[in-house]
Order: sequence, then C-alpha cells, then structure tokens
Amino acid sequence: MCGIVGYIGKRDSVPLIVEGLRRLEYRGYDSAGVAVLAGDRVFIAKKAGKVADLQAMLDTGPVSGTLGIGHTRWATHGEPTDVNAHPHTDCNGTIVVIHNGVIENFRALKTTLMRDGHTFTSETDTEVVAHLIEEIRKEVSDLGEAVRLALLQLEGTYGLVVMSAENPEMFVAARKGSPLVIGYGEGENIVASDASAIVEHTRTVTYLEDGQMAIVRRDGVSIRTLDDAEIPKAVEHISFDVEQIEKGGFDHFMLKEISEQPETIRNAMRGRLLVERGEVVLGGLQPVRDKLFDAQRIILIGCGTSWHAGLVGEYMLEQIAKIPTEVEYASEFRYRNPLLGPRDVVFLISQSGETADTLAALREAKKRGATVLGIVNVVGSTIARESEAGVYIHAGPEIGVASTKAFTSQLTVLSLITLLLARGRGMAAQDAVVLTRELDAIPAKVKSILENAARIREIAREFKDADHFLYLGRGANFPVALEGALKLKEISYIHAEGYPAAEMKHGPIALIDERMPVVFIAPKDAIYDKVVSNIQEVKARKGRIIAIANEDDQDIESMAEFVIRVPRTYGFFGPILNVVPLQLLSYFIAVARGTNVDQPRNLAKSVTVE
Ligand code: G6P
Repeated sequence: MCGIVGYIGKRDSVPLIVEGLRRLEYRGYDSAGVAVLAGDRVFIAKKAGKVADLQAMLDTGPVSGTLGIGHTRWATHGEPTDVNAHPHTDCNGTIVVIHNGVIENFRALKTTLMRDGHTFTSETDTEVVAHLIEEIRKEVSDLGEAVRLALLQLEGTYGLVVMSAENPEMFVAARKGSPLVIGYGEGENIVASDASAIVEHTRTVTYLEDGQMAIVRRDGVSIRTLDDAEIPKAVEHISFDVEQIEKGGFDHFMLKEISEQPETIRNAMRGRLLVERGEVVLGGLQPVRDKLFDAQRIILIGCGTSWHAGLVGEYMLEQIAKIPTEVEYASEFRYRNPLLGPRDVVFLISQSGETADTLAALREAKKRGATVLGIVNVVGSTIARESEAGVYIHAGPEIGVASTKAFTSQLTVLSLITLLLARGRGMAAQDAVVLTRELDAIPAKVKSILENAARIREIAREFKDADHFLYLGRGANFPVALEGALKLKEISYIHAEGYPAAEMKHGPIALIDERMPVVFIAPKDAIYDKVVSNIQEVKARKGRIIAIANEDDQDIESMAEFVIRVPRTYGFFGPILNVVPLQLLSYFIAVARGTNVDQPRNLAKSVTVE
C-alpha cells in the first residue's frame, strides 16, 4: 500500500527519496510527499497525484538536505488531496511524520489533543501522531523517547518514520503491522517500506519486527523494543538485483512479468523436482514433514489472485494427494471463529507476504493450534517469518499491481506440494513420473503460448469497447475463469464475472445477447463434452464466444468466433497454461483502452490494511 523512504547521510536526500518513491509507487499511489531538513527548518512538498507530479513540484522550487523522508499514499482516512498527503506535522511544523497503516484510536486522541489546544489541518489519522509527540515533548525532550511514549498510546497498525527540525542527527522508525526495512550504508542509512527502494544503495538490511523501533543516525542504527530494551540487529542480505525491478525494454511491468513465466515457473521447481524419480524435495517443509503427512485436512488461505491459486490447489490436493482440502478467503476466515485442531495444516498463500488479512488469518490459525505454513514470494516478509515453515515461490519481484507470474508460480508450488503428499500417501513412483515429467514440460508450453501473443492482441482489439465479459470454466479451470475475469476488471475497468460453466444457467445466461463476449476455458479433458454443451447454450443465444482450446481440437472452430490455442497437458497442470492467454487478453485490452496497466486506479499491490 503506502510507501515510505527515509534517508540520513552525506548525500542530498531529495533525489534519492524521490527515486525510492518512484520504485514504491506500485504499492499505492494517490498522492506523494517529501520532508527535508534544510538548515534549521523542515521543508515539505506534497501533492495529490503521482510521484511525477511531486517531482515537477520539486523542480520548480529545488531544495536539498542530507536528512529527509518521503511517502506515497493510498488513502484510508480522508480523500487523496494535497492536504491529506503525507508528511504531516505538529502545530508549528517541527515534528514531521509519515505513516502506513491505520491508527484506530485516532478520533479519541484527536479530541483530547484539540482540547489541549492543538490545531489540525488534515482529515488523516496520521496527523495525530505528530501532535501527540509534540505534546509529549513538552515534558520529554529526547525525540526517540517521546516517539516511544507516543507509540504506547497508539492502537492499530503502523510503519512510521518521524523526524524533527530540532534533531538534525537522527530520525526514528517504528513498526507494528506494516513492514519497514533498514538498509546500512557507509556514513548513511536508509529506511523503506519495501527493499526495492533500497537495493540500489545497499543490500545489507534489517527487517524491523513488530513492536520494534529504530533510532537511525548517519553513523549507526540502534534498535529497541517499545519497552525500551536495546536489541541486537538481525542483519540480512537482499538477494535480488536492481535489473529485476526495472522494465527491461518492455512497455509495462505486467507484460514483462507475463513474459518471464517460462523462467519463473522453472525457478519455482528448480532443485525441487526429481523428474525421473517421480519425487519432489521441498527443504522448506522438512521441519514439518511428519505433521504434513499426518494431516487430516489442509486449509488454503489467501486473498485475490492468491485465493484463486488456493482454489486450484484444492482440486489438485483432493484429486491427486487424496487429502480433504478447504479454501478460505483470509478476510472471512479471521472473523469466522474457525474450527481448527492440531492435525489441520494451514497454508497461507501470499505474493507479498504482507497482506493484512492473510497475516491475521495466520495468527488466528496458529492460536488455534494448527500447523501454519507459507507459500510466499517475498523473502523475509512477515508471513514468511511468522509461518512455522514454508515454500518460497521464487518468482522474483512482482511490480505490476495485477498479479501474473506469482499466480503461475503459486500453482507450480501447489503442484509440487501435491506430488510430495501424494508420494507420501502411497502414490507409486511410476505413476508419479508421468506427472513429474509433465510438470517439467510446462515452462516450454508456456513459452509456446507467449509466442502467440499477436493473435491475442488482435482479439483484444475486437473486444476493447465491450462493457461486460463473462468467463466460464469447469473443474480446476473454474478458478482460472475467476482469475481471467479479475485480471480484466483490475486493469481495463470492464465489468467481468467468472463462473462455473454449468452454473451459468442459474443466472448469467440472462445477460447473454449478441454484445456479450464469453470466454470459455475448454481444454480436451474429462469434462470437455460438458463444456461444449455450455458453449452451445451460449451460441444459441448469440453470445460472442472466445475459446481457450487445445491445439488438436478441430471441433471448436465451428462453435467459437475466436479460438486461442494452448498445448495439451494433464488436467491439474492445465490452469498454469490456460491462465496465460487470459493474462495477455486483459493486458492488450487495457493497453487498447489506454488505462494505466501497471498502476490501475484504486488498487494497491499489497493490501496492508484491513
Ligand atoms: C492485492 C493485489 C492482488 C493480490 C492480492 C493478494 O489485491 O492487487 O494482485 O492478489 O492483493 O496479495 P498477496 O500479496 O497476499 O498475494
């Protein structure tokens, strides 16, 4: 969601912060701002709009300083206006705060502070933090201590950074529920909400834990708990390169990420798939192997695209590994009082590893005694760290807000987990080899779909002005229909619904006329004939049919107006292939409509508030 960058060192902080904000813009982006210590006063520039608008504002009135903080906002409290943009200050502009998260008791705090004479300028929850610190500083002059005492009064979540015009030698960062990472340099230190804003300056970092705060100076950083105990720094190394967070010649991150899938799917299985032995090795699950094999039930939890991956996982785990599996929206699970026991294994599926609801579901499941495991992309993220064990999907940084490569990597990892469990529960090696060979062939098949992009672009042009779309699939391709519809609405703003193809007769069929595009996912699997019946039902009502079909399916041409070909595979790996043309279809439709593909309106890459 919102992005944070803080810098203290010997260089001019402004360009460094603005560049960091640009890299974080994908997280949330309705306004942006910076605060810089220039001489003995803090200069603030902030604006509704993109980081580029902030940059233009800074170009007209340049300012510099070696201590500064910056923020990109995704509004929670108060509209995205110039005034509500961060940073926020106390009454006289001395104490400056940027914040991610939600301060739940801000109304009560604000009422008290206003009664004590504080004047507020914005509608945000964040501004109370600046005034609260100002109030505490009347008694406690030390900035770090004043921030600590203020934090003890806050309810809700925060990743925040505080600087003061009276403290040119330091700033304070603190975390509860919203990620913050500290990067260490020579005579300079930098804090950000996401390592992508840091990686070009340093790769040596510490991920702050919940309930920790950091006093950041030019020559060092000390980390303390909110009980004021100094704790040793856990120093880690960022593993990705700057190139991985650049567009690399593509028009959009989304297209780059769609195109990377042959490699990212391969990376998800690298060293884990022993093809000719029909075996899977998942080192990350080794510590919980017994619990996993003894599980009476698996529960897959996620949000958005990650939840769709879970739905496909349910088909795989029940049909191949023969283990009862349920799939839950994290946001519903956490408030449902779920019945869980020690023989339940919960997998939290999350690209970012920071989604607030998924994290809360993890904590709820842990509290109830289940084994909690992560299927996560971002290494070192909160869900990865709080899980008992897990499997990284190794898709590399995903910047496009609409998730693509993470989805296919999540499906790949779910396939591996399914095979691992299937073997552990008695599947014979010769049966497993058939599946491991097929999984091994998936990256090449994805590559062949990508080579057909021009055809998909033509179809996109034909439908770019549609107002609605229907996506229909059956079995493991029903979640693919959901994912196809989600991709389209996210980036093109066309209303789209995914439905189980047969269920169409119980409602969506009423929508079908000669203007309704209907995308069928129709591979030649065990239920192909059933899908064909559904296609005929749509055709009879003059719907415009686009079919995702296998290369050797001759019959489909007579039924569908447009056909997108995909190679054959075994049923349960089908979703990994079938989703790729749907990603491309959405992408090309969005480009043809001229929307902001990588940063669609109102959406955020990582939803770190409830
Ligand atoms: C947001 C993103 C989606 C993503 C979902 C879950 O809504 O825009 O692309 O699928 O969050 O995110 P996660 O990081 O937990 O997979």
